[in-house]
Amino acid sequence: MNPGLYQLYACLADGRLHSGATLSEGLGISRAAVWKRVQALRAIGLEIPATAGGGYRLERPIELLDADDIRSQASAAELVVDTVGAVDSTNARLAAAGGRHGHALLAEAQTAGRGRRGRGWLSPPGSGLYLSLAWHFESGLAGLAPLSLVVGLTAAETLQQASSAPITVKWPNDLLAHDRKLGGCLAEMSGAAEGPCRAIVGIGINLFPTPAMGGLDQAWTTLADHGEPVGRNRLAARLLDALAQSLARFDRDGFDSFLARWPAVDALSDRAVRIIHANASETTGTACGIDGQGRLVLESAGQRRAIASGEVSVRVR
Ligand code: BTN
Repeated sequence: MNPGLYQLYACLADGRLHSGATLSEGLGISRAAVWKRVQALRAIGLEIPATAGGGYRLERPIELLDADDIRSQASAAELVVDTVGAVDSTNARLAAAGGRHGHALLAEAQTAGRGRRGRGWLSPPGSGLYLSLAWHFESGLAGLAPLSLVVGLTAAETLQQASSAPITVKWPNDLLAHDRKLGGCLAEMSGAAEGPCRAIVGIGINLFPTPAMGGLDQAWTTLADHGEPVGRNRLAARLLDALAQSLARFDRDGFDSFLARWPAVDALSDRAVRIIHANASETTGTACGIDGQGRLVLESAGQRRAIASGEVSVRVR
């Protein structure tokens, strides 16, 4: 979202009706230019229905992201918070900016949001939270395999405070409410196997439904479906604080210190599942929690085996 587009987006965020003439005067551009910018906002997924009188009004007001507000509501000392209009991906942008320890980036929209296993993440403006945090670890890449579980567990526990429905994690990284996808986590690591290393952890959360979600190929839900919506800045501050605490603890005490909290959020516990491997072969069994390395424990034909998250996907049978 270039500055001009963001200006219009910010004007419309109040959800009131704005005539083309008022917008043109307020922004110092022609009415044709206003119309062009409206089209550009629609193209990145903002719902601006046509009105009978020719003005513009959002279906639903948007609480704009505000870096100072988020920072002032968060207490973790390491955090440096930035917000932007539209970016390709907050994970990619944070990495490109150097990924300084504690640097957080949130976007109103992503044009190429990244999901796990090369998938995309639908990120229309104002209807979700798209957040990334860079963190440096002393522990080395070798021990970071369970990182996405730490992020998922932390996000689920934080979202639970704002939801009447139980929030669970479908191993390894899906955030669910009533078995429908509410969000997802993506941890991207770089560095040495044993030395200090860096991760960019990203969380995407569906806050409000948008028509674009109708095209998703899995059952989805939004936080607004499960209680009074909490402000985006407040939720972002809570998530960043909780993440900073969990990531510091993970580096200091390891994954064992999180294991006892997993059963309360485990979406797969004791369920019959199908594991689809990268080569399309399948393994079926009953999910029996996770082990100390964050692997899924699967029981089939009386045998237990541990499955690493790598390139597998999991379906409940
Ligand atoms: C998944 O469920 O596959 C993971 C989705 C992670 C999406 C978030 S949105 C913020 C951050 N930036 C990205 O490009 N992806 C993550």
